[in-house]
Amino acid sequence: MQHKLLLSLSLAALLIAAPAFASPDTAPVQATVDGSAASTTAPADAPKDAAATEDNAMTKTDGDAQEMSAPEGHEAAAADDGGHHGPAIPQEEWSWEGPFGVFDRPQLQRGFQVYKQVCAACHGLSRVYFRNLSALGYNEAEIKSIAAETQVTDGPNDDGDMFERPGRPSDHFRSPFANDQAARAANGGALPPDLSLIVRARGDGTNYLHAILVGYEAAPEGFALNQNMHYNKYFPGHQIAMPQPLMEGSVTYEDGTTASIDQMSRDVTAFLTWASEPNMEKRKQVGLKVMLFMLVFAGLMYATKRKVWKDVH
Ligand code: HEC
Repeated sequence: MQHKLLLSLSLAALLIAAPAFASPDTAPVQATVDGSAASTTAPADAPKDAAATEDNAMTKTDGDAQEMSAPEGHEAAAADDGGHHGPAIPQEEWSWEGPFGVFDRPQLQRGFQVYKQVCAACHGLSRVYFRNLSALGYNEAEIKSIAAETQVTDGPNDDGDMFERPGRPSDHFRSPFANDQAARAANGGALPPDLSLIVRARGDGTNYLHAILVGYEAAPEGFALNQNMHYNKYFPGHQIAMPQPLMEGSVTYEDGTTASIDQMSRDVTAFLTWASEPNMEKRKQVGLKVMLFMLVFAGLMYATKRKVWKDVH
């Protein structure tokens, strides 16, 4: 009987280790509760960007809100776990899925290019620091020059004035707008959320993000599309304030990959998935090591048990 007990104990230990493999999609992220997904990873003094995500994530509504006309109202629509209440989201295959899955570096770099050249016009990414880009395979000199492309407000200087200076690797990505009001004013009343944690803030975030980027089409006949809104077959309520961001050839890839809408969408989705969980690969590695250790340990314990009890029965 004893060895059964030991085995089940070891098994229990394995089960405890297993969550290390959970993907962000299955992790218990509370996107709908007051804070935003940020609360799972963010320090308590989380800066404004959490609020940006929250703005789109906070309201838990029933279907009606999706049909509301004001841009503010419909923002609430996407909150609930993606697929459940909104349209069904197609399930794609991603390189980083599964216990052994890893990000594809060239894809992350392409996705970063799409973010920088397209999305950054409206969306901030304030949880990502330029130095973090080393994980994408950029070297120090490249990171310095990428950072220097951005102007950052710093200060106050000795005269008490704020001033602009080129970005450094220790700076984080900035929002293109001075504040939320300016962002709304430029976007017909709707607030483009910070994208740092967007993949975690939406149910089935990776597939959802890809889906809305490729989900633009002409509104079906009879669909009452509000002013300044765009039809999207995967956005809950089908009306989104974001104009279709990706067009064929929106960017020119340095590695020669054809920049189709689908390709750019996959790439930027990979990049934003990395941004929302930069330590995923590390987490999986640790999980695997723990599992391995537990297995060896279980074997050792079993051998010990047999030896100790050999003469007893
Ligand atoms: C012209 C400005 C603009 C550009 C460029 C833009 N967006 Fe947006 N985006 C918006 C606005 C405005 C919203 C808010 C939409 C709403 O609430 O209806 C938004 C919302 C979003 C959302 C949240 C959807 C939800 O579930 O609430 C995601 C994700 C997103 N954008 C991703 C992207 C990505 C990725 C890119 C680059 C490929 C991009 N956006 C480019 C303006 C923009």
